[in-house]
Amino acid sequence: MTDGDRPAPVGALDWSAEDARAFGNDVLDIWTELLERLDGDLPVVRSRSAAEVREATALEIPAGPMPIDDLVEHLRTIVFDESMYPGHPGFLAYISGTGTVPGAAADLIAAGLNQNAGGWRLSPAATEVEQHLMRWFARRFGMPEGSMGYVVSGGAMSNLIGLTLARTRHAGWDVRDEGMLAGPQLTVYASTEVHDTIDRAAQMLGIGMAGVRHVVTDDRLRMDVEALRAALEADLAAGHRPIAVVGAAGTTGTGAVDPLLDIAEICEEYGIWFHVDAAYGGAAALTEPLRPLFEGIDRADSLGFDPHKWLYTPHAGACLLVRDPDVLVEAFAVDASYIVTDRDQTGWGIDVYELSPQFSRPFAALKIWVSLLAHGWDAYEERINHDVELARYLHRVVTLHPELEPIGEPGLSITCFRYVPPDLQGHDTTGEYLDRLNERLMFRLQLGGNVFPSNAVINGQFALRSCIVNFRTEADTMDELASETVRLGRTLDAELRPEHLR
Ligand SMILES: Cc1ncc(COP(=O)(O)O)c(C=O)c1O
Repeated sequence: MTDGDRPAPVGALDWSAEDARAFGNDVLDIWTELLERLDGDLPVVRSRSAAEVREATALEIPAGPMPIDDLVEHLRTIVFDESMYPGHPGFLAYISGTGTVPGAAADLIAAGLNQNAGGWRLSPAATEVEQHLMRWFARRFGMPEGSMGYVVSGGAMSNLIGLTLARTRHAGWDVRDEGMLAGPQLTVYASTEVHDTIDRAAQMLGIGMAGVRHVVTDDRLRMDVEALRAALEADLAAGHRPIAVVGAAGTTGTGAVDPLLDIAEICEEYGIWFHVDAAYGGAAALTEPLRPLFEGIDRADSLGFDPHKWLYTPHAGACLLVRDPDVLVEAFAVDASYIVTDRDQTGWGIDVYELSPQFSRPFAALKIWVSLLAHGWDAYEERINHDVELARYLHRVVTLHPELEPIGEPGLSITCFRYVPPDLQGHDTTGEYLDRLNERLMFRLQLGGNVFPSNAVINGQFALRSCIVNFRTEADTMDELASETVRLGRTLDAELRPEHLR
């Protein structure tokens, strides 16, 4: 071989530490400016169409490097002109957390370190930190010693894994080997208020909607356990095979918490899996004052909990916890010939790729871990309870206002209400119009830029919905939401009211 045969180095992608610092400083400037302006001149969102955002952001990818100043300017456009801000105090929609400040910094370290948390050898500290964190959560939920879990992308993934584990344990045959046709129809049970990802999980698992039972709720939108029992009996009599009940620890619409203890008892009695969807309410269950609402959560066979919701950490990072780790091996272990492990020789720890549907995984636990270390648990406990207090405050404000009508009681940090023009109050015939009025009102509020609620449909009625998983929201935002709702409600009512209701 001559020197000419040896490939010359290609360092084009390898930025020096100095270049990294220069670019990193520019990025840091953008981030800290964002923090300063979140509670200042930035709106929650701007009224921009997809075409306008695309026009401003979708650059052609250049063949050569973009000048750094142009790149930084482009990032500023994305951050300050074309985004919406879940960290704005007026963001009250869906269940999307603020994003912790230390968590965002931790994400930079995690990306810089670039661990692959699928295998211990590729992520020693990452795996140990993640496992330690999961044990800590499991203990605080009251789950028994030996419970464990891992970080997943969100509640949707936790629900998919939870039902996969139920199928593994309770189908009665080896679904991994034999597929879904080797036995009777499997059935799963969840309330009518459960998150849609339970249905989707059943669809993806081949259970199909033919096997999903939506159990009716009581007047507080919690699963009716007598109806659950009746549904189980009916399915057994029909030759179906019940495998799991999903208990909601904080429903998406109203924050209702199912009677988890009763459901746990029923699951034990019928010998089936108890999955708890605590994606939203899990954070409240971790605090002393709110824990009693969740009695029975410790009995979960599997539990999904989203720190990126109410522990406010940046997307994406949620937890899937299980009581019996063996089930993860049964459901997910693979024998990859290109990965050889000898723990006696190496002392290496567990490989999460063996226990989960994912193979390569990010060090997503770091942003949760660093947030907890930087703030300490007491700050979390105080803020989560404060969010609940703010939701109750909004309920009182709404109740006292003659043009606003509360819908139900606040559930966790969610308050539902609607605008009802005074002369239409108490009229049975106005339901359809009030739904339309409030739906339009929601969009006006959202596009107004100051407060951004979402909606719930409660007993068929369209409701405005404020959900506080936002550590920048305070009582003045609640006041503003109420006054903006009334102001815009009056204007819209004047525009939209049909002739026969005038
Ligand atoms: C109760 C509940 N479960 C599951 C999910 C889905 O969670 P994710 O969006 O983190 O996948 C949500 C989302 O809001 C939810 O509220």
